[in-house]
Amino acid sequence: MITVLRNGMVTISAIKADIGGYPGHHSVHPELIKTAEKKLLKAKKDKTLIDFRVLACGDDLQLIMTHKKGVDSKKIHKLAWDTFIAGTAVAKKMKLYGAGQDLLADAFSSNIRGMGPGIAEMEIKERKSEPIVIFMADKTESGAWNFPLYKVFADPFNTAGLVVSPKVSKGYNFEIFDLHKKKKVIMDAPKEIYSILALIGASERYVVKRIFSKEGEIGAVTSTESLHEISGGKYIGKDDPVMIVRAQGAFPALGEVIEPFAFPFLVKGWMRGSHHGPFMPTSFAQSTPSRFDGPPRVIAAGFQLANGKLIGPVDLFDDPSYDRARQKSNIVADYLRMHGPFEPARLGLDEMEYTTLPDVLNKLKKRFKSI
Ligand code: F6R
Ligand code: MG
Ligand code: MG
Repeated sequence: MITVLRNGMVTISAIKADIGGYPGHHSVHPELIKTAEKKLLKAKKDKTLIDFRVLACGDDLQLIMTHKKGVDSKKIHKLAWDTFIAGTAVAKKMKLYGAGQDLLADAFSSNIRGMGPGIAEMEIKERKSEPIVIFMADKTESGAWNFPLYKVFADPFNTAGLVVSPKVSKGYNFEIFDLHKKKKVIMDAPKEIYSILALIGASERYVVKRIFSKEGEIGAVTSTESLHEISGGKYIGKDDPVMIVRAQGAFPALGEVIEPFAFPFLVKGWMRGSHHGPFMPTSFAQSTPSRFDGPPRVIAAGFQLANGKLIGPVDLFDDPSYDRARQKSNIVADYLRMHGPFEPARLGLDEMEYTTLPDVLNKLKKRFKSI
């Protein structure tokens, strides 16, 4: 069946949550995927959704949905919430680890933002051909997308199109969030790349939320929800973000979009959300953080959109050209692990604020005497 898109507009919503791991924080049980698929199939049948896929990255359940309701649609967000609630019931029956862990609100009100799950959504006018990549991560935070987004949309050593293609060489606008001050700024690449880097190099505070072409077309969007903040300071785990990127034409080519991940750059997260670790690109099947609850994983699902229908996914890192990145990740992991609990393998004290370490340090407070 071919859906006709009114005005050619379609919304892609990637909404994810950890609603129980197995074993521990390792992966998503197939029963949870089945439960989610059943829910979303019903929504596809009643035309709430055009299409959907349910995927998993580590212990995070990933709902990828297309529809005509725009971003922040109450109906779509409620569907995602209800799907996570249904999955949580199944997770509880199996006593999966941390069942319902990311669902931090008692009841759905009007928007799933601020309730625990991570969300990346974009409404686009579907092009004649619309390749997209959905990146999903486990055991890291949303700032992890800063490095690859800069490489893809601003670095000519990554993206040949910035040099070679007249459409791509116009550059892009970066919308950057200051997560601490709750402010945002839009900056022009290449005009302001040094200032962009001054901000987004500090990936715990400044995160790239969206990227636009100079014509104002959205090219990328990330999830930036913080579990720590939503929970009022309690350690829940890392946010394990998602990101949607459009490829080809006026945007970087597919190969340029996934090129940064050939280098396993360091991200924050890994064991107890407290360590630096290499960001390891893997196949869907290997997105299972095992060694020291990691190293942090990233998967890439490639799709073509056809009137909102999802053609795919293609498991983009399931490819020998990423073998070396995985090997290098293991070498870096060995090296970092040799540091045990010492910084900078362990995160700095400021960042450890978001972990369970303050509880330990508080207990020692009274024993300190003045020097
Ligand atoms: C990191 C993560 C895990 C847990 C660790 C301890 O994001 O999810 O590394 O922090 O397994 O988990 P708890 O405290 O649940 O035993
Ligand atoms: Mg978990
Ligand atoms: Mg996770």
